[in-house]
Amino acid sequence: MKKRIGILTGGGDCPGLNAVIRGFYKAGTSNFGFEIIGILDGFEGLIFNKTMPLTRDKIKGILTRGGTILGTTNRSNPFECAVQLPNGKIEKRDYSEKCVQNFNNLGLDGLLVTGGDGTMTIAHKLYEKGIPFVGVPKTIDNDLDATEFTFGFMTAVDTVTECIDKLHSTAESHQRIMIVEVMGRDAGWIALYAGIAGGADVILIPEIPFDLDKILQKIKERQESGSNFSIICIAEGATFKGGEKTYLFRDTLTGTKRLGGIADRLAMMLRQNTELEVRSTVLGHIQRGGTPNAFDRVLATRFAVKAAELVEEGKWDHMVALKGDKIVAIPVLDAIDKQKFVSPKSQLVQQARLLGISFGD
Ligand code: F6P
Repeated sequence: MKKRIGILTGGGDCPGLNAVIRGFYKAGTSNFGFEIIGILDGFEGLIFNKTMPLTRDKIKGILTRGGTILGTTNRSNPFECAVQLPNGKIEKRDYSEKCVQNFNNLGLDGLLVTGGDGTMTIAHKLYEKGIPFVGVPKTIDNDLDATEFTFGFMTAVDTVTECIDKLHSTAESHQRIMIVEVMGRDAGWIALYAGIAGGADVILIPEIPFDLDKILQKIKERQESGSNFSIICIAEGATFKGGEKTYLFRDTLTGTKRLGGIADRLAMMLRQNTELEVRSTVLGHIQRGGTPNAFDRVLATRFAVKAAELVEEGKWDHMVALKGDKIVAIPVLDAIDKQKFVSPKSQLVQQARLLGISFGD
């Protein structure tokens, strides 16, 4: 019997999602004869029955495309889906049974779920209600402990590096301190990698709270050695020593708090303490867009091929992951809620310090 498999992309998007859809379609149809149904807008598609059959035509040319042809959202957890009532109030509804019904009505044998920690947690809970699935991890934040890298990360690092390069030249001509704020949630991977690649003088990450005086000291050292400009790469989740995280707003529907604004706070404090001009740039969602780089295309495609094999084997409730140079399967329960942070004692951080990069500590 040929399997009929639904595929959805959940949570925030990242470069490489279309490479997964294409890879799964190619490996799944040609090797195992899968029939593949695209489920639109993450779990919202399963709740409200929004689907499209995936055909060769639909996947043509998508390897290089950013985003996801299936759409996604990080606002539709079927177990507590926030709905705004006509009176403006928000009500949380449990649509998980509806998902099971729609899954069965669609005649599906399983799902391929691409997403981060939140998406995998939802998929696991739906599995317990009878929806078999295989997971593919993604996030530009690279903060999942189960896999050495997630696709999307290296492309985000490339994007940030290119932006730092551009900021470098203008920083030098104007003799300014340029602060660049990057994503990553509570992990400093993007800031660390792009900071090193872009030759930043100061890298500030959530794992190493910083001290204003240490940053000023680094700026002064640079001035004394003849460099009247500095580049500071700061992760959105970074904090002053003993300080709190900086948030932009709280999502009205989900209640999730959105990090952002630490670069401006730091810029203000630096202005008060140095005669140099200070400017800050927040890169934002530019980091999530664009065509995936070669590394991410290969990783996403390898994840997809392995996922197709797992679906064929019926190895449900497992997720693909990169271990060394192999793509392996791990139980989803072993992966969720386990974040990977930068260790301040890691070789990477130590090497950055040996280069003279300050972490503000
Ligand atoms: O997890 C990926 C990520 O881009 C984080 O780095 C960032 O904090 C967050 O998502 C932004 O979310 P949103 O797309 O909801 O603004």
